[in-house]
Amino acid sequence: MTNSNPATTPNPALRESATFDRGVIAEIQRAAGTGIYDIRGWGAKRPLPHFDDLLFLGASMSRYPLEGYRERCDTDVVLGDRNAKYPLHLDIPITIAGMSFGALSGQAKEALGRGASEVGTSTTTGDGGMTPEERGQSKHLVYQYLPSRYGMNPDHLRAADAIEIVLGQGAKPGGGGMLLGQKITERVAGMRTLPQGVDQRSACRHPDWTGPDDLAIKIVELREITGWEKPIYIKVGATRTYYDVKLAVKAGADVVVVDGMQGGTAATQDVFIEHVGIPTLAAIPQAVQALQELDLHHKVQLVVSGGIRTGADVAKAMALGADAVAIGTAALIALGDNSPRYAAQYEALGSAAGCYDDYQDGRDPAGITTQDPELARRLDPVEGGRRLANYLRVLTMEAQTLARACGKSHLRNLEPDDLVALTVEASAMARVPLAGTDWIPGRY
Ligand SMILES: Cc1cc2nc3c(=O)[nH]c(=O)nc-3n(C[C@H](O)[C@H](O)[C@H](O)COP(=O)(O)O)c2cc1C
Repeated sequence: MTNSNPATTPNPALRESATFDRGVIAEIQRAAGTGIYDIRGWGAKRPLPHFDDLLFLGASMSRYPLEGYRERCDTDVVLGDRNAKYPLHLDIPITIAGMSFGALSGQAKEALGRGASEVGTSTTTGDGGMTPEERGQSKHLVYQYLPSRYGMNPDHLRAADAIEIVLGQGAKPGGGGMLLGQKITERVAGMRTLPQGVDQRSACRHPDWTGPDDLAIKIVELREITGWEKPIYIKVGATRTYYDVKLAVKAGADVVVVDGMQGGTAATQDVFIEHVGIPTLAAIPQAVQALQELDLHHKVQLVVSGGIRTGADVAKAMALGADAVAIGTAALIALGDNSPRYAAQYEALGSAAGCYDDYQDGRDPAGITTQDPELARRLDPVEGGRRLANYLRVLTMEAQTLARACGKSHLRNLEPDDLVALTVEASAMARVPLAGTDWIPGRY
């Protein structure tokens, strides 16, 4: 339909600047009006090379595929069997990433635990500690040990199934988290030993070690406290991934988590989210190279996160060399975040379903990124858990479909040879050939 309203029809003689487009102008005007930088949740929104830029080479003459309903394609994964007495045995290689109670409502944390447990995978605490609802509903719970130490409790280290030392996040490598005063209720403040209602910033580096040599001592300390039972993960935001993974392994990690630049956050400066880090696609081959050079690929497991949405993303991450993936934003969407059901309410907040990223505000109509008891009650943890479990099943079945088409009887058998790239950039970053050629830029 053509737009015949003269007030809104663009005049072809008027030219919008590509450099100063309407979004840039609006942001300059907003900054000038308020003197405050933009804080938001979600991950990078700008277009970046991503898993969509890769394609699978299904089997034909040179390889043969597996039958969908008759031939198995297994999905289980063991995480952390290098040193721990009790590594995690997961039924699927898709885990739930660390998201804090404080950023998320208690109901959302419980729903994540329920959904993950239903399909035999793990969920993770976050900045701010472990809640009883979450521990109670999570069959496999990873406890985050963060620079802030908010909510850190040695008893919770023992109550966890694995420990994740967080060095950084893909959305903000080099930065700490934020939780604005409106989300710091009595319960959140109590867990973090912070004043109620006051904006809080999490530290960007650990207080008691500065490099891999000190971290190695810290890791032994954590193993001693927990009787050498639990796998120790190290999570890094993707930047100098090759070196960071090597150093994480040197420090003693059983599992390395690499969170790419598309990774979600609860609240960070927009300038950080959009301008720091490297895309997930570029980080995986660097991590794999580091592990291969140490002869520890698949022995120290690699968990990848940052923008995973579909079974195709899962399968591609694994084909590039990940042992498992973690999801944050997609899990929140599965619970009901950004649902068209709340369209009118998102609009009332100046946003829209599909765009809502003001997690810092605490006014989430879906009851997920809020501490407002009225809003949080909207999320039924049982129903939310069921939805998340459904979504995780779909991701798994999609990944299996692609793996069988490549002739693989286990998701872990996917390999870079199964992939080609659609763009020169993706080819160079993922280190797989440009489709229809043998060419990988910078390699051959
Ligand atoms: C609401 C929210 C809260 C988060 N809180 C934490 C946290 O407490 N600790 C942490 O290491 N990462 C945190 N993250 C980042 C996730 O653990 C994960 O790295 C990221 O969400 C993965 O990218 P994805 O959202 O595209 O799946 C958070 C992410 C979101 C969306």
